[in-house]
Amino acid sequence: MSYKDEIKADNLPLHIAIIMDGNGRWAKQRGNQRIFGHKNGVAAVRDTVEAAAELGIKYLTLYAFSTENWSRPKMEVDALMTLLVSTIHKETSTLMKNNVQLNAIGNLSNLPPDVEKQLKASIANTSTNTGTTLTLALSYSSRWEILEAISQIAKEIEDGKLHSGDITYDTVSKHLTTANMPDPELLIRTSGEYRISNFLLWQIAYAELHFTNTLWPDFRRDDLYKAIIDFQKRERRFGKTSEQVINKN
Ligand code: IPE
Ligand code: IPE
Ligand code: MG
Repeated sequence: MSYKDEIKADNLPLHIAIIMDGNGRWAKQRGNQRIFGHKNGVAAVRDTVEAAAELGIKYLTLYAFSTENWSRPKMEVDALMTLLVSTIHKETSTLMKNNVQLNAIGNLSNLPPDVEKQLKASIANTSTNTGTTLTLALSYSSRWEILEAISQIAKEIEDGKLHSGDITYDTVSKHLTTANMPDPELLIRTSGEYRISNFLLWQIAYAELHFTNTLWPDFRRDDLYKAIIDFQKRERRFGKTSEQVINKN
């Protein structure tokens, strides 16, 4: 039996988020420059997106570049930005073939103009696709996003559009970059690191976490299936007791 056959179709995570980590180490193991690892990470993205689309996963969010990643050596940042443009350009046909709609979150105005332009073009080209929504987190960090939300909410109060007493969880969620998406139910991190690195802090309040030692360039559909199988074995209690969950009360 293949891993795919072990997945129960009636208990798929609605939203899967992935911290794609380990490209640099993968390249180093092969005596290569870090960018070689990033280039080889593209095949992992393609396979993961196709597998998620085939399974009918509604939302897939990939952490591709963090706010903090701007502090890397300029040569690596420049190479990553060039790779982003060419990958988004080349892979748009893969997205079309798989009925995937592209979306992006993060401080996109900080991206080089050619990256922003290509991103917007691919988002527009895939906008009528109805399958999986693929969100790339680019120049993204959760604290940046929460700070932006707080500023917007404060401005609405100042302008008399909102009363401080009326702020709910929903108010906050609606001011985040993920406003139109459900929260991730499964968060995967590759490369054996056990941290969140400023990713979707508000949204993963009740996500199931799956860590794997696999380095991102080696990640393939079977690794995604294994993570989903692991997710389906978890009892999600949301603060209740196991008995309550079983008896559904
Ligand atoms: C993840 O791989 C890709 C990005 C953060 C852009 P890394 O580049 O972080 O690889 P490691 O963690 O150094 O191996
Ligand atoms: C997290 O990976 C960011 C992305 C995967 C884009 P990092 O490699 O930047 O995270 P740290 O520095 O190990 O926490
Ligand atoms: Mg890393």
